Amino acid sequence: MTRNEKYDRRRRRERRDFLRGFPLTLFDGPGLAVKLPFAALYPLGAVWVWNQQEQAVALAQGSDLISPVLRLILENIFPAYLIIGGAALLILLCYPIGRKAAEEELHRVGLVNHAGEAPALLRKRRDETYPNITIWEFDNRGIPLNEWEDKRTSVETALDLNIAKMKYSKGKRRVLLYAAPARAGLPDMLPWKDKYLSQESFVLVLGESLLGPVTVNLANIPHILLGGSTGSGKSVLLKLLLMQAIHKGAAVCIADFKGGVDFPAAWRETCRMCFEEQDLLNVLTGLVEELKRRKRDFSEAGCPDIDRYNRATGKSLERLIFACDEVAEVLDRTGADSEQKKLLGQIENRLATIARLGRAFGIHLIIATQRPDANIIPGQIKNNMDFRVCGRADSVLSQIILDNTSAADQIPKDARGRFITGDGTVFQGYLFDEEQL
Ligand SMILES: Nc1ncnc2c1ncn2[C@@H]1O[C@H](COP(=O)(O)OP(=O)(O)O)[C@@H](O)[C@H]1O
Ligand SMILES: [Mg+2]
Repeated sequence: MTRNEKYDRRRRRERRDFLRGFPLTLFDGPGLAVKLPFAALYPLGAVWVWNQQEQAVALAQGSDLISPVLRLILENIFPAYLIIGGAALLILLCYPIGRKAAEEELHRVGLVNHAGEAPALLRKRRDETYPNITIWEFDNRGIPLNEWEDKRTSVETALDLNIAKMKYSKGKRRVLLYAAPARAGLPDMLPWKDKYLSQESFVLVLGESLLGPVTVNLANIPHILLGGSTGSGKSVLLKLLLMQAIHKGAAVCIADFKGGVDFPAAWRETCRMCFEEQDLLNVLTGLVEELKRRKRDFSEAGCPDIDRYNRATGKSLERLIFACDEVAEVLDRTGADSEQKKLLGQIENRLATIARLGRAFGIHLIIATQRPDANIIPGQIKNNMDFRVCGRADSVLSQIILDNTSAADQIPKDARGRFITGDGTVFQGYLFDEEQL
């Protein structure tokens, strides 16, 4: 392609983008703060020009020395202002100020297609639901969303933003960034309040993202996997979830092989705790038997799940939750003798059954881990854990929990209680004080 052709192409594209953004950028395009004053000045200018013209014409009439051409000009200053000024104003209103800067910044961080073009900002608008969120709409120039995601932190720094969400729009031609200004990020601490408790059954609240509360409905997504290096806030988040589940009437079993330091007396009074393997196996065997019992009862009653079963029979079967804070401590086979290995095999087996079948029968797993060993959680358990959350982590742990490195890339190294979900939502978990139990 010659330079001329390139230039032509660029001009054509710019014209197209300009027209595409046309009716919308008029009112909510970037640079509204610059545009509005000009729009307001235009009518004031018209009054002033009209006045000047009147005076000039009056003056000219009193004098014979003025040439007819000058007279004609003087008499037409006002219409000229209306037409030329009006056109200029319209162009200014439509021109998305900030587009060039955005394009250059994205170019600089290397978000470009094969032709070396960066995405073009078409418009910015306020989000209707979340007032602190601005939606940046880009023509993505053929750059797929996963490339945006890979460059997310660079894009955030380049545009001075905190991105809450990225998604396609208009098929895959455009990308929307839901973003808050960089200085309006998430708070470092969000104390839990009882009013945050969801009224809906069986929705648990985890924390807040820039787009509002992050929740999980166990009726739809039955099992939760939490990851994060030590001190990232897993235990606090786990207990936050369990506390809500207890509030909603679930029965909770907790396996804690770290000696129970994380679960003080209040927990032991409310939950079934187990501290060693044989007891754990008994608990899990009990849960699997309950699962089978429910399976039989539900099918006799012709009900597909626990909610409908309870409604149809008037019973109030409770949801059962099995939680394990540091699952690697339990499932690790290193140094185990054959007897222990057999026991661990049975434990895994029970966990896998619950992971596979628990949803309909209201039996759930919430499992946390900090160990970046790929085979600590067997595939048949992990694959059934659809809600995954990871706090501060290295890329190996992030990969194990989320199947991508986003936790390593996006959670600051000093963050506590900051997590990212499998779908890329970053949130600050509520800090829950055990005294509240
Ligand atoms: N949501 C949160 N907000 C603020 N600080 C938190 C939050 N969660 C945890 N922390 C802080 O981090 C510390 C470690 O949390 P913890 O849950 O024990 O981490 P982990 O279990 O991942 O090792 C807590 O003592 C608390 O001070
Ligand atoms: Mg912990």
